[in-house]
Order: sequence, then structure tokens, then C-alpha cells
Amino acid sequence: MRRDPSDPPPLADPHADPHADPHDDPHADPHDDPHDVAAATTARRFRDARVPPAGVHLDSAAAGRSSRAVLAAVHAHTVAETVHGAAPALARAAGVLDRGRAQTLDLLGGQAGAALAFTHSAGDALNRLVALLLPTAEARRAGVLRVRGEYAPNSAAWRAAGVRDRVVGSGPRIDPEEFDAALRRELRAGRPAFVHLTWVGSHVGTVQDVGALLAVARDHGLPTVVDAAQAFAHVDTRAAAAADVVYGTSRKWLTGPRGVGFCALRGRFAALAPRMEPFEAHHAGRVGFAHAVAELHDLGPADVVAGLAAVGARTRAVLRDLPAWDVVEAGPEGTTAPGATTTLRPRGAVPPDVTASVARLAAHGVLVTAAGRERSEEMTADVLRVSPHLDVTEADLARVRALLLDPPTGDLAESLPQ
Ligand SMILES: Cc1ncc(COP(=O)(O)O)c(C=O)c1O
Repeated sequence: MRRDPSDPPPLADPHADPHADPHDDPHADPHDDPHDVAAATTARRFRDARVPPAGVHLDSAAAGRSSRAVLAAVHAHTVAETVHGAAPALARAAGVLDRGRAQTLDLLGGQAGAALAFTHSAGDALNRLVALLLPTAEARRAGVLRVRGEYAPNSAAWRAAGVRDRVVGSGPRIDPEEFDAALRRELRAGRPAFVHLTWVGSHVGTVQDVGALLAVARDHGLPTVVDAAQAFAHVDTRAAAAADVVYGTSRKWLTGPRGVGFCALRGRFAALAPRMEPFEAHHAGRVGFAHAVAELHDLGPADVVAGLAAVGARTRAVLRDLPAWDVVEAGPEGTTAPGATTTLRPRGAVPPDVTASVARLAAHGVLVTAAGRERSEEMTADVLRVSPHLDVTEADLARVRALLLDPPTGDLAESLPQ
């Protein structure tokens, strides 16, 4: 494998002795940077908190692996519902849920008077927002202004409700000056009901500079709604404090249960929180979500964000010079892709088929995502998404690389699902 001197350092080994003092880490040279020792400890704690995967799980952007404690909390709540009754069990869980709401708001930058509603998912939060924020024909005509490269199901959600879809920029990342100029042009055609920003897309790991974009929107006096489904518990989301509304999901980088999402509402929007939150819901999942948020706080949000950025940088370094694949997030690290998602676009006269490649990796026990063009208007090809969490190892990445280097053999191709 090609190694540049400028390559990001190899990953900390999360399989190292879990009981060792971090300062006695057998993998840590006494001259190691204390940040590397801390990263090894965080990765180890993350790994030890979970049941080992059956293979190599590099699919956190789809759904992360919950910890044993989160699984136990979900189970305990369902048992409590059976033993005590659903309403008493919910009353008993009130403290855990309130702490979960507060800690979630904290991760979103905190803000006095903000309210957090639980939803069924990020998509559910957006559907509810569309209904609540765009109730009139006038609001639907004013429309939603968003950046090109939006997660397609989002724009489909407001278009399905008859809301005008207003697009600026050329994607996948818009800089604040370009955004400002585009807003000025667009505002001549009337003010949108709100600006929608997606922090990290589903089809590319590029991270929008949401803090700077929110400042631009605010300068124009426009309400803002942010999709943090791929950003929450992945990148630093404290800049969300400047947004009016932020929504996200439990099951991805937070590694909480499926079927739970959240929506934080601020200022005049906070009063909508009770109408955003469905009462009939997977309450055990919400309890699991609260536990997952508490675990993130215990691990240290800054350490997790730094650890995932290092995982992404390392993944891109290991996969960057494959003959048949381009890393989409190529560019200076720390600007275009400080997250852990790496996207590979097929290259060449006969580019590899993404679905077959993903199936082949799966046949070798490696779980990644095949993302089809329907995910975003800016996609020119299907892509293969690699989204490891803190427990990924150098050996895991080397395995992906070897499998993507090695063209499928006849017999393996025959054994793949058609
Ligand atoms: C950018 C983005 N927004 C929203 C969603 C929807 O999340 P959920 O399935 O929890 O509704 C996803 C899911 O992949 C996503 O990637």
C-alpha cells in the first residue's frame, strides 16, 4: 500500500488490552503524542462497549452499532412496560428522557429556551416541519431555499406537499460568499419560507460549513432549518445553536436505536415542540437514545469528533489510489471532509459496478453502502460509501482495499446474489 510521509498516522488499535492503563498502552510509544494515546483509549472504550460484529462493519452512515448498555436500556424499558404498565414505565423514565433532551441540546450548542421534541426519525421530523411551518398556500409558494446537492428525499418531502423547491449553488459544498451572493439574487424573486441546510449528505461525506451559512441566512433575516442526520455525533454540531430548527436521527453516528429522531426548536419555533412530538412512539427507543447520548457525553464529544475525523482521514489515505475508484472527498483534509465518511466513485473505461462490488465485499464479511444516483441530483454515478466508526482498525481498511483492488473471480461472481 502506498504511504506518503504526509499520510495521516495509522489508527489507534481498539483491540489492544482493554484493562491496560492508557499510559501503559502496549501500542503507545512513551514518546507518543498524548492525543494519540487518548484516541486509542476512546476507540477501545467504544469497542469494548459493544458486542463484536460478525464481520467488518463500515456502515455507520446507514446505521451504527449500539452498545450493550443501550440495548439493555431498550430491553429494560420494554420489560418495565410489561411489569408496571406503559404509562408508569414512561413516568419512571422521565428523568432519563429529560436528561437526554438536555444533553442533545448541549451537543447542538445549547441555547436558552430551546426545546427538544422526539420524532420517529429525521425524515419524520422533516415531514412534520413541512406541515407545521408551511401551512398556507402563501408559505408553500414562498418555498424552501436549499443548496444543490440536497439529500433527495428531503426535497421530495416538501415538493410532495406542494412546496416550491428553490435551489442555489453548485454543490457539494457552498462557501459563505457564494451562498450570500446566491441568496441576494434569489431574494429578488421573493423571500422563501425558510432556508434548509444539510450538514453532511448521504451520498458524499463533504461537510458544509453550517455555522458560516447560518450567519449568512441570519444576516438576510431568513429562518433556518438544518438536517443534522449525518452530522449529529459525527462532526462538531455546536454551530447549530444559530439555527432556528435542527433535526436528526438516533441510528447513525450516535449508534442509538432505530425508529427515533429528534428536532430542536428555538426562539419563536420552540412553542411548536409539543406538536412535533408524536406521543404514540417507541418509548423504549427514546430511552435507548438518551443512553446513547449519555455515552457520547461520557466518551467526550470532542474526542469522538476528533477520532472520527482521524478515521476519515486515514480511510481516505488508504483508499485514495485504487485504480478503479476515485475518492470523492479528495481535497485538503480539514476543509472538505473532516468527517468519517469516504465515498468511492467508480472510474475507468469499464468502471466497476457498485452494487456488485458492495455485494462482493459483503460476501467477504465487509459491510458498506451502495448509494444510488437517486440520493442526490448532483450524483453522476452510483457510489460506494465506507463509513467506519471509532473501532475500525488498520487491518479492516487494508481488507477493503485488498478486496477493491482484486477484480472479482468467476466463481466468486457466480456466488453473489443477483
Ligand atoms: C442526510 C440525511 N438526511 C436525512 C436522513 C433520513 O434519516 P432517517 O432515516 O432517520 O429519517 C438521512 C438518512 O440516510 C440522511 O442521510
